[in-house]
Amino acid sequence: MKIGVISADSASESRVAITPDAVNKLRKLGFEVVIQSKAGQAAYYADALYQAAGADIASSSAEVITQSQIITTVNDLSADAIDGLSSGQIVIGMLDPYRNTQLDTYAAKGATVFAMELLPRTLSRAQNMDVLSSQANLAGYKAVLLAANEYSRPFPMFMTSAGTVKPAKVVILGVGVAGLQAIATAKRLGAVVEASDLRPTAREQVESLGGKWLDVPMSAEEAETAKSTGGYAWTPSEQYVKDQAAVVDKALSNADIVITTAQIPGRNAPRLVHGATLAKMKAGSVLIDMAAGTGGNVEGSVPHQTITTDNGVRIVGAANIPSMLAAQSSDLYANNLVNFITTLIATAGDDASASDASAKVVLNVDMEDEIQGALAVTHDNQVRLAKR
Ligand code: NAI
Repeated sequence: MKIGVISADSASESRVAITPDAVNKLRKLGFEVVIQSKAGQAAYYADALYQAAGADIASSSAEVITQSQIITTVNDLSADAIDGLSSGQIVIGMLDPYRNTQLDTYAAKGATVFAMELLPRTLSRAQNMDVLSSQANLAGYKAVLLAANEYSRPFPMFMTSAGTVKPAKVVILGVGVAGLQAIATAKRLGAVVEASDLRPTAREQVESLGGKWLDVPMSAEEAETAKSTGGYAWTPSEQYVKDQAAVVDKALSNADIVITTAQIPGRNAPRLVHGATLAKMKAGSVLIDMAAGTGGNVEGSVPHQTITTDNGVRIVGAANIPSMLAAQSSDLYANNLVNFITTLIATAGDDASASDASAKVVLNVDMEDEIQGALAVTHDNQVRLAKR
């Protein structure tokens, strides 16, 4: 049974879904692998490395799709590629499920499509398949380096004969996986760090990394809601949003660097930094908006662009930071995919309904399985994704 690897169809994507090392792992599991020529090139994985690992090279995505039972991708497939799918084929990738406008087409083709972003985060056996964590962790680290690069002063304190250099003040808004890594990285570079999140449990994590918690008052009812959302953001009240804006306004007026990471699965990112606050910030200060691709946390941020406001504040619309670390982010993403693909293999006793009897590996596609069922956005000609 063949696993296909499709090349990212965009200039802003350098990652590849399967690395040569992952080819080795898949072959050990009994799969064959076919990869679209040059799919790994932007992540520094040349075709020759895939061939050395035992993969076949195909000249086009159409050729990969015709040969493969399972098709792996970083992002959504092109309309042409979807057109080439046939019933029973499996597609696995980061498919941006809640904003994906092609799900009906996948369903009409009869493909089973697994959107890796929908993984249940707290299921311990699924943690090694968590693409949001693997990519956000790297992105949080790189966001700090991007900020350091844009900033015209250093991060650490320096005592020099020409004078003392003050440490940079860094504010992180949204302290999930990316935010925590950003705090750790900024601290390692010697910055003074403050951070905030609407999940009160993040406070302890911020403090354990040496950051200062920016507290936004919350009602008892909101504190209860915050506990019951499974770790994701809750919908804050108007009062909370107002109080948060005041806390952010004060912190950012003194900040040198701001990194925003706040996302809400299935919805546009919350607006955390408004124009009035930007107007109070220091010339030369830098904001890295990691949510620029999903609506933006910072007013005026533009995906994939850096803009400078009239008062000299630089806003970096960092829509795809993991792609800037394509070699490493591909390694981790490919590991996540191999771990998920392993769970699709039938074990003795499974009802191997989706099996290919002539092949070495037998699949067990099972919507009752808690991981497969959570990830599958189309199956049996149906779109299975509940609206948010
Ligand atoms: P995310 O990328 O969805 O959002 C980033 C952060 O922004 C989150 O901490 C969120 O609470 C915060 N945020 C959203 N709206 C906000 C607002 N209006 N104001 C302030 N902050 C706001 O988050 P990520 O990194 O994907 O993590 C989501 C949750 O899953 C977190 O609770 C995280 O700890 C948890 N998680 C649990 C894992 C596990 O138990 N194994 C693994 C990975 C994540």
